[in-house]
Amino acid sequence: MKRTILAALAALAMSGAACADTIKIGVIGPFSGPFALQGKNFKAGIDAYMAMNGSKVGDDDIEVIYRDVPQPDPAQSKALAQELVVKEGVQYLAGFYFTPDAMAVTPLLEQANVPLVIMNAATSAIVTKSPLAVRTSFTLWQTSTPIAKVTKDAGVSKIISVVSDYGPGVDAENAFKQGFEAVGGEIVEAIRMPLSTNDFSPIMQRIKDSGAEGVFAFLPSGPTTLGFVKAFNENGLKDAGIKFFAPGDLTQESDLPALGEAALGIRTTFHYAVSHDSPENKAFVEAAAKAIGNPAELSFPAVGAYDGMHVIYKMIEATGGEQDAAKAVDAVKGLSWTSPRGPVSIDPESRHITQNIYLREVAKADDGTYYNKEIQTFEKQGDPGLAALK
Ligand code: PHB
Repeated sequence: MKRTILAALAALAMSGAACADTIKIGVIGPFSGPFALQGKNFKAGIDAYMAMNGSKVGDDDIEVIYRDVPQPDPAQSKALAQELVVKEGVQYLAGFYFTPDAMAVTPLLEQANVPLVIMNAATSAIVTKSPLAVRTSFTLWQTSTPIAKVTKDAGVSKIISVVSDYGPGVDAENAFKQGFEAVGGEIVEAIRMPLSTNDFSPIMQRIKDSGAEGVFAFLPSGPTTLGFVKAFNENGLKDAGIKFFAPGDLTQESDLPALGEAALGIRTTFHYAVSHDSPENKAFVEAAAKAIGNPAELSFPAVGAYDGMHVIYKMIEATGGEQDAAKAVDAVKGLSWTSPRGPVSIDPESRHITQNIYLREVAKADDGTYYNKEIQTFEKQGDPGLAALK
């Protein structure tokens, strides 16, 4: 008995000592399965940040611990977050590609005294679920509001909306509808597809039959988006003159080599293009390309992760490495910096990122590769989705 207590005390003392020197960040994302490339981009962004800024904050070493949730799975996400906090002693939770996985951990944060830095999950409501949640990615309201006006300006008045039936899809549908109707556009039909949909031919037929002049679409980036844009082309919709509008998830750079001509000319609105022309982005792309190995695999989750690390480093600085989640989050309210995507700040009220949203068009470079070419900037966009929640 005595021996057990002594062993437990010794273990505690050792873990206490370890805490003072090493600050652990637990990152949850899809690192295997169909969305593995998205998780690989999280890691590339984190590695790039640490390569450029060091793996120490003050005297403390920073250690990143990864946990794999291949597809949206709130129960698995919550269990892994608990394991990271209790067994690994992480002081920060970060990552989260899919909304349901981020939502599932928000109830744990206050008791665990751990901030959550969301590097992708993009449903507006997530940050309202805990005062300890901060987001460095985007929301579908933020990206899909400007494309509504772009659509109308392109002379398209009748749209069919097609989205994945979960948080960000519903937000995208509502954001586009609100923006489009405000400028006199009409949604002739709104389709919500199960997330598991991978045969898009029946949907393409419904788009043809709807009489719409154009389609607005959102699916989470990955094999889903690649399949959808391919099907749009292969089912003859592009040739029939039906216009395609979407947030940038639909033309992520890592999908462009496989899409080729099918993507050419597609207009999207988004917070980040790998081609963004700035010294900060040049340095970022160089480091992230090195981290990921194949530069053609770089995509937007890398920048969400890179900026997420910036926020976490600022939190660690502000708390001197002590575990004080409220103080850490307070320290980044109003924080502004120049991200690879452009100027950004953390809105002090919502803890969501304010940023430029860019209109881009898929173009072909001189070397034959395809890229998202930025052609217009909507400056300093907050999240209209938070107002819509009230
Ligand atoms: C999300 O689940 O919040 C999500 C995932 C992928 C995206 C956008 C949003 O491209």
